Amino acid sequence: MPRLDSNGSTRYGAIVSAGGLLRAGLFHYARLLGNGMRAVREVEAALGATPDESVLDFACGCGWFSRAVPGHYLGIDLDRDYIRFAQWRWGSPRRRFEAMALEALPEDTRFDKSLMASVLHHLSDAEAAAVLGRLARMVRRRLVVLDLDPEASNGVQAFLLAHDRGRHVRPVACQRALLERHFRVVEQRGFPNTPHTVVHVLFACEPR
Ligand SMILES: C[S@@+](CC[C@H](N)C(=O)[O-])C[C@H]1O[C@@H](n2cnc3c(N)ncnc32)[C@H](O)[C@@H]1O
Repeated sequence: MPRLDSNGSTRYGAIVSAGGLLRAGLFHYARLLGNGMRAVREVEAALGATPDESVLDFACGCGWFSRAVPGHYLGIDLDRDYIRFAQWRWGSPRRRFEAMALEALPEDTRFDKSLMASVLHHLSDAEAAAVLGRLARMVRRRLVVLDLDPEASNGVQAFLLAHDRGRHVRPVACQRALLERHFRVVEQRGFPNTPHTVVHVLFACEPR
């Protein structure tokens, strides 16, 4: 049983929170080892954000892609441990991270640009439609979407893909069709992060 401190709180909370940070750190550094920096560079180039543009990173996880943004950045995610890690590792007055749902942002919130990295395959078609519809109302200039390309992955890559936690891995054409219901896709390209990791596809989208 956790022991009570003199102020009535428990040390259990601190242990749980250290465990959460450890889980987030493992996720973050495993991705760094597995994927390297290529995806950040690709997203940075496709986003083309300038220091005076604001960027929303939807489902930012541990904040890996905040480095692709030179100006005001808001990363949101439902996982509180990931957000606490991101605040600790990357947080600054220009780089904010919040544990919140997209729907919780005020309806009149606007961002110049947005990104969504490795998220689409975690969302069902209905969830993706809701998220993309909201982003289409919120983003003025550009949305960059990065996800997995199951058809271009084989060998070790296909094994990793089969064990991904996302339950909605889709062929690239299906991903593009989901995006095109809400945005104009102005660029699409694939790239491997490293020879052994899953091939990624990147879409640059603009509001209609
Ligand atoms: C594979 S991780 C990618 C994290 C980050 N974008 C990156 O590339 O490092 C998927 C993330 O999506 C988040 N997520 C899934 N569904 C979500 C939702 N409906 N709203 C916000 N975040 C969500 C998870 O908590 C997780 O952090």
